[in-house]
Amino acid sequence: MKPLRTLVLALAVSVGGRSEAHVRVQADTTDAWLLFSDEVLIVDGRSEGPLLRPLKLDGGKSHTVEHRSGQFEIPKRNMDPCSPIRFVVLGDGRAGRDGIGPSAYFEGLLTEVLARQPAFIVHTGDLVKDGQSRAEWSHYLDTLPPVPPIISVRGNHDRGRPFLELGLAEGAVFSVVMGPVTIVGVDTEVSTVDTILLRLEAKLASAKTPFLIVVHHRPIWSRGTHGSDERGWNKRLVPLYERYGVDVVLAGHDHNYERFCPLLGLGDERRCVESGQGPLYLVTGGAGSDTNPVPGLSRRSTSAQKTLDDRDSRMFSGTHHFVELEIYRGALHGTAFRTRTGNLRPAGVFDRFVITKPDVHCAETQEEAAASGNPK
Ligand SMILES: [Fe+2]
Repeated sequence: MKPLRTLVLALAVSVGGRSEAHVRVQADTTDAWLLFSDEVLIVDGRSEGPLLRPLKLDGGKSHTVEHRSGQFEIPKRNMDPCSPIRFVVLGDGRAGRDGIGPSAYFEGLLTEVLARQPAFIVHTGDLVKDGQSRAEWSHYLDTLPPVPPIISVRGNHDRGRPFLELGLAEGAVFSVVMGPVTIVGVDTEVSTVDTILLRLEAKLASAKTPFLIVVHHRPIWSRGTHGSDERGWNKRLVPLYERYGVDVVLAGHDHNYERFCPLLGLGDERRCVESGQGPLYLVTGGAGSDTNPVPGLSRRSTSAQKTLDDRDSRMFSGTHHFVELEIYRGALHGTAFRTRTGNLRPAGVFDRFVITKPDVHCAETQEEAAASGNPK
């Protein structure tokens, strides 16, 4: 390390005073990276920070960042719609009844997620227990590695100014393109659905990638304790998701895993369809908070709704877990992992699903051809 870098980083240590650095990278809504830091950094050889605003970095190339806890690389951002990608979805990592901040399980669970080397992580909300508490957010940020980037939506427990002040999401509706997938994030904690509907439709309409995923905290369909359609927005959201060909709708809020069949329609008209013909609805809220293994406990869902949901649900589990999504050549492969952290049963895969899109034509890469034993 050069003397100037040593001096600057030593200064950061002396003024920092905390045990952990809050350095993290997020993908912005264009093709750049956003680097957040509350301490001095060396970025590509230049001293930066502490940053009052995130530092925008060219996503077209990789970057080297040195900070007091070490060094890390920010990779070139994947903007190729035919490039394979693997990422992880998790949610409800907040503390349970007697805790504060993130759950005591969250850090261990995150370690298991990082071992999968995801390109990025999607968090379906409820990052902390009390979103008004800056101490809880500091504790949450302590648990995060600088990379990979985490795409988060706001949960009901995240309400309060810090979530947006920390830049954890770029507004109530945002979209992020990562290789073959567009992730559209929606804040289901805003006052009314009318405040987000036009922006949401614009984001869905402008998506150009082979796969389109929506993520919000409160589920469209769920047999968890909160149940289906908690805010009464389904009749406004579902037609949009179907019109614009959303492939997967991710949610959390209920502390369990649940996968529904791909669905079209509302009420008595709702029906399961073939893979790729309608949105697949997935609830993943098992990243640390107390989980619920029993479906159908919602006091809000009507018995008619519960009957439909029982019919169309394909997997329900109260295990602590995360979900890996992998996209390559016109197919999205989902794998749900029970974690070592928080479970009595051993870690392992407990659900799999595939969404295929025959209309997506991407040539086999040289690496894939070699792996299949059919090199070009
Ligand atoms: Fe929640």
